[in-house]
Amino acid sequence: MEVLSTSDNDLKKAAVALAAGFLVAFPTETVYGLGGDAFNLSALAMIFEAKNRPRFDPLIIHIADMDTISRIVDTAALGGTARERLSVLSGRLWPGPLTIILPKRTEVPDLATAGLATVALRFPSHPVAQKLIRLSTGAVAAPSANPFGSLSPTSAEHVLTGLEGKVDYIIDGGKTQVGLESTVLDISGDTPVILRPGGTSREEIEALIGGVELSSGPSTETSLSPKLSPGQLKSHYAPRTPLSLCPGGELAFKNEAPNEGRLYFSSPGKVLGPGTRVLSETGDICEAAANLFGMLHELDNMGFDLIIAEEAPASGLGLAINDRLHRAAHQS
Ligand code: TXA
Ligand code: MG
Repeated sequence: MEVLSTSDNDLKKAAVALAAGFLVAFPTETVYGLGGDAFNLSALAMIFEAKNRPRFDPLIIHIADMDTISRIVDTAALGGTARERLSVLSGRLWPGPLTIILPKRTEVPDLATAGLATVALRFPSHPVAQKLIRLSTGAVAAPSANPFGSLSPTSAEHVLTGLEGKVDYIIDGGKTQVGLESTVLDISGDTPVILRPGGTSREEIEALIGGVELSSGPSTETSLSPKLSPGQLKSHYAPRTPLSLCPGGELAFKNEAPNEGRLYFSSPGKVLGPGTRVLSETGDICEAAANLFGMLHELDNMGFDLIIAEEAPASGLGLAINDRLHRAAHQS
């Protein structure tokens, strides 16, 4: 395993490795991805192996130019309305933290889509991700670069800690900017559905295509039905330390138990100890999202018996922050 820089030479090296079927972890604006060529079966299998990820959990295919869509999506199977939605969404929100579920072409390996008739497509905005994808094969399958069920990585160190020895190259692009995974939006049916809230807010999407449904949220099922978006599993995004949630604004009034870590949303009027982290001092929702996984990783490594986290305001990216916190809490 080799850690690479974002220099042109290193990106070329990584791109050649990707095209040859090796795995490359790379930064995106959301979280680090564990990339493999989307059309290479053995690379796809290695992704599942490295993450210890169930085979039925479909991967997102990352592209870096609009022409590649036609290699992956069965555009003929898209209805007129869906085609319109795709064109508006991709025109305004790509590149960016939005994944769109679309009917797949038969050439896309079933291993990538877990046998579903649809494929998850994303055009990341991170320049390093774009360069890497363009220099290699143009279509890179990548889940978040963490072991299945654990916290997503927002730095190269997180990737190293979680996947040491299981990935061929890691491109170190520093801390990721958005910090939360992309929003997964299914537009393959009549009504668009958000399967996973994320880095693009529901409000931004609705301003462009009108009302979308929010899928009923984390599933309580322990085994997955292939129809379900596995990102809906409650046990996703979990630290090892038990975590409990507190409604916004109430945590500051709770007595601190011994050996307890705290994650505040914002800090005005709060007493901050060494076991306290604040997502954003000023309550800036973007800053909070960017800090979420990093601070959970930190608190998780401090040996607490319990982490108590304060809920974020429930609009914009707050929806995605609270979604991840609820899943983390369910695990414990
Ligand atoms: O921000 C992100 O999306 C990151 C970066 C690396 O791009 N990737 C990521 O991938 O979070 P992953 O594999 O951890 O999450 C992909 C989500 C899962 O919840 C998966 O179930 C869902 O997308 N998904 C993929 N294909 C799908 C499909 N055809 N239908 C429904 N859900 C799908
Ligand atoms: Mg993931």
